[in-house]
Amino acid sequence: MKKTIVIACSVLSMTSVFAQTKTASDAKMNSFVTNLMGKMTTEEKIGQLNLVTPGGTVTGSVVSSDVDNKIRKGQVGGLFGITGPEKIRKAQEIAVNNSRLHIPLIFGLDVIHGHRTIFPIPLGLSASWDMPMIERSAQIAASEATADGLSWVYSPMVDIARDPRWGRIAEGSGEDVYLGSQIAKAMVRGYQGNGYDGRTVMACVKHYALYGAAEAGRDYNSTDMSRIKMFEYYLPPYKAAIDAGVGSVMSSFNDVDGVPATANKWLMTDLLRKQWGFKGFVVTDYTAINEMIDHGIGDLQRVSAEALKAGIDMDMVGEGFLSTTAKSLKEGKVTLQQINDACRRILEAKYKLGLFEDPYRYCNETRYANELLTVENRKAAREFAARSMVLLKNSNNVLPLQKKGTIALIGPLADNQRNMLGTWAVSGDFDKGVTMLQGIKNVAGNDVKVVYAKGCNISDDEEFAKKVNAFGVEIDIDKRSPQAMIDEAVSAAKQSDVVVAVLGEAADMTGESSSMSDISLQPAQKRLLQALKATGKPVVLVLMSGRPMTIVEEDKNMDAILEAWFPGTEAGNAVADVLFGNYNPSGKITASFPRNVGQIPVFYNHKNTGRPYRGGAPKFRSNYLDVSNDPLYPFGYGLSYTTFSYGDVRISKLNPKGNEVVTATVSVSNTGKYAGEEVVQLYITDPVATVTRAVKDLKGFQKISLQPGETKEVTFKITTEELKFYNTDLKYDWEAGDFIIQVGGNSRDVKSAKVNWSK
Ligand code: BGC
Repeated sequence: MKKTIVIACSVLSMTSVFAQTKTASDAKMNSFVTNLMGKMTTEEKIGQLNLVTPGGTVTGSVVSSDVDNKIRKGQVGGLFGITGPEKIRKAQEIAVNNSRLHIPLIFGLDVIHGHRTIFPIPLGLSASWDMPMIERSAQIAASEATADGLSWVYSPMVDIARDPRWGRIAEGSGEDVYLGSQIAKAMVRGYQGNGYDGRTVMACVKHYALYGAAEAGRDYNSTDMSRIKMFEYYLPPYKAAIDAGVGSVMSSFNDVDGVPATANKWLMTDLLRKQWGFKGFVVTDYTAINEMIDHGIGDLQRVSAEALKAGIDMDMVGEGFLSTTAKSLKEGKVTLQQINDACRRILEAKYKLGLFEDPYRYCNETRYANELLTVENRKAAREFAARSMVLLKNSNNVLPLQKKGTIALIGPLADNQRNMLGTWAVSGDFDKGVTMLQGIKNVAGNDVKVVYAKGCNISDDEEFAKKVNAFGVEIDIDKRSPQAMIDEAVSAAKQSDVVVAVLGEAADMTGESSSMSDISLQPAQKRLLQALKATGKPVVLVLMSGRPMTIVEEDKNMDAILEAWFPGTEAGNAVADVLFGNYNPSGKITASFPRNVGQIPVFYNHKNTGRPYRGGAPKFRSNYLDVSNDPLYPFGYGLSYTTFSYGDVRISKLNPKGNEVVTATVSVSNTGKYAGEEVVQLYITDPVATVTRAVKDLKGFQKISLQPGETKEVTFKITTEELKFYNTDLKYDWEAGDFIIQVGGNSRDVKSAKVNWSK
């Protein structure tokens, strides 16, 4: 008892010391910034709101010009798209030595899944359901980014996506709001640590808001949804990042409730700042202000004024603020207070990052020489990639492969460095990536003979290839005829004990501006698989993709399917670790795999409808005539080389009241031959409420590891927090009644128990 009191007291006093220190440091920052702003002209203040790129990452039609001169004139607040302490030092010197007030620049970049050492694409990382690992991936990325001169990263991307046609589903954490929120927090913690210590960076949560709900999965398209859906399913991950202390927010390209996010005062000020208490700064997405001209909001002066008034602080690349704000001020269209507020927030960010104290804090040549793409970071990349892969099928335990005999390694992605890193790996060097062929040779040992054949092109369609190859040749169309390539592959297969076919997408078939209306394998790849299957040899498909693909045929015909995503720098080694059982796969998909495009959006937490299809005659129910309602693989699904069995759900109290805490416990046993990890998932259904609810919602998960024959008890704590939802008044509360508590290894296969919770 005594001990508890002592601990409680010391925690209390620590909290108040921390609060005092924070207030004192805030006061110091405020007076510094106030003092500096007192010396600034209005033009210099507007200059701080200008973010430019001299090249590098270009995702819009504009690239900044005359950058050096603008920095000298105090017309630039930050730069993005350049890396390396030498280059960054040079640019910083211009600002610090040659601009009137010597205000340092902030340097940002898209550091999305690793920096120089590339980790799996975010959708892959999310499939690990491993929060410490995801946090660590962001921490390593931050450490590499700061060694490369940067202090600000445009990540995490937390847009919920239920539409795999949308290429940017690769950049986020899939379809679920609860998991997405946990990942948002883990990433912010990883990037920002406990403060900006020189090895951590300021994160930027994006794309606020609802960018993942682009209609028809077409990038940059409009979004439109009810407020209930927004609050329940799309906004919480942004809020989670804010709660975790994210330093900055990026506005999205799309409109929200009819007003583009970048001019949406409700979103940027009322919700973000007033309701959620966000204190950092908001940057637009690339030329998002200018794009509001095409949205139909007005000319450049008008859209820039609307953005500033809405609460945007920094203009990425478009220079609408720089070129029109002084005029708008003169004409009374914006106020000096609005300019001051934006300028203050940007200066505060620079202050927090320590740039006023030392503008070259992130320009450390020794760190640059020693801390990028290190052996340890590559080791982490290999581990993270293996942990992200999802085993979708494994008949007759064809996997893991034995380390003997002959393997036919087939496919356009099997000996391919160019496509291993995936989308948004701007600082990754694909020449450093490990191919599948190399990885298999590294891991298999001398008793395995590997026979390689390309088998087909990623796509035979030259027009399509041209579009995908905008940043370099990812789809390389062979000079040989498709039949000659298939013949070579079939002959390799015939000489082998097992075929490993590495197929799927080129890196830039997903990511920004890479929407697809057909998400099945390209025809050339399907033909190859049919030919391989016809040899009668067991075929393992290693699928590389940045999205769930429609693979009904492959699911039927292949002996095993391993979803490898884009694994990053250590791709081949990590895939081989999994194929040969050095690592037993434990990933679970975080976005449902549709059976066909017509089912989209297909996601696990849909509503019931008034005519749910429950089998039987398919007329006058909510169903398709030509395909089932269910996805091919449900959210949360993934196999292991071992098997797990779940006991019944045991509830501590079947009739809880008010704020009581209930526990749900299940025994999970490893009933197979291998040690393995399992993601145990908790779902809750609220069958009767004043608004229609989803059939179930994820409310918790635990990743456990079990030796063969071992059983563990997994307990989830359930409080009324987990029962809450938004009603028609947007009040977030719970309603008394029955709740179905479900626990299982995916969203479909669960054990359940009922509780009746009264007020
Ligand atoms: C993307 C952002 C990215 C920005 C800067 C935009 O086109 O939507 O995600 O951070 O470019 O590269």
